[in-house]
Amino acid sequence: MNETVELTLPALEVPDHRVETPAGAIRVPGIRLPEKRVSVDAALVAKLIDHAREAARLAHAPHSDFHVGAAIIMADDPYATIFSAANIENSSYGVTVCGERNALFAAASKGFRRVRYLALSTVDALDAPLSERSPCGACRQAIREFTEHDVAIDEALILIDTGDPGVLCDVMDIQRLLPHGFTFAG
Ligand code: THU
Repeated sequence: MNETVELTLPALEVPDHRVETPAGAIRVPGIRLPEKRVSVDAALVAKLIDHAREAARLAHAPHSDFHVGAAIIMADDPYATIFSAANIENSSYGVTVCGERNALFAAASKGFRRVRYLALSTVDALDAPLSERSPCGACRQAIREFTEHDVAIDEALILIDTGDPGVLCDVMDIQRLLPHGFTFAG
């Protein structure tokens, strides 16, 4: 059964503005993201959310007791392998690595470079607002590295587990999660 559905990610239209002050001008960059049509395989989304929840069970989180699982499929992997991982904490706290990055780096270590789906489950906070269920800033930047930077063709979708049994996930893309992310132009 073909369960592919079309979704529209919202446009973000905030103009730049500039304020003149006696000390010089201050610029406030706006955001211009066109509406984006994306296709999603709903059965695969459900499967990836399950894998992310399952991965969270294996989290090593003795310090926060906050278990996070992630499951990824890469667009350039012809076998559509599911790479899943959990957050791994350390008593030297800064050494901790989030579930999303552990899964992403496992995929990238196999040579894949373009995210198609990244599902994430903060299983201990599913009834929390989106801000408590979505990827941290470091993970957003890491994910961005493995997406197309061209808004029009970028195919990477971030699937965020929800506490609602009637809702498969919240879906976003990296431009909406990290509008002014860093690119090293070299
Ligand atoms: N954590 C993740 O695994 N992913 C995120 O996007 C946010 C936070 C982990 C890190 C730490 O082990 C615990 O959640 C509490 O911050």
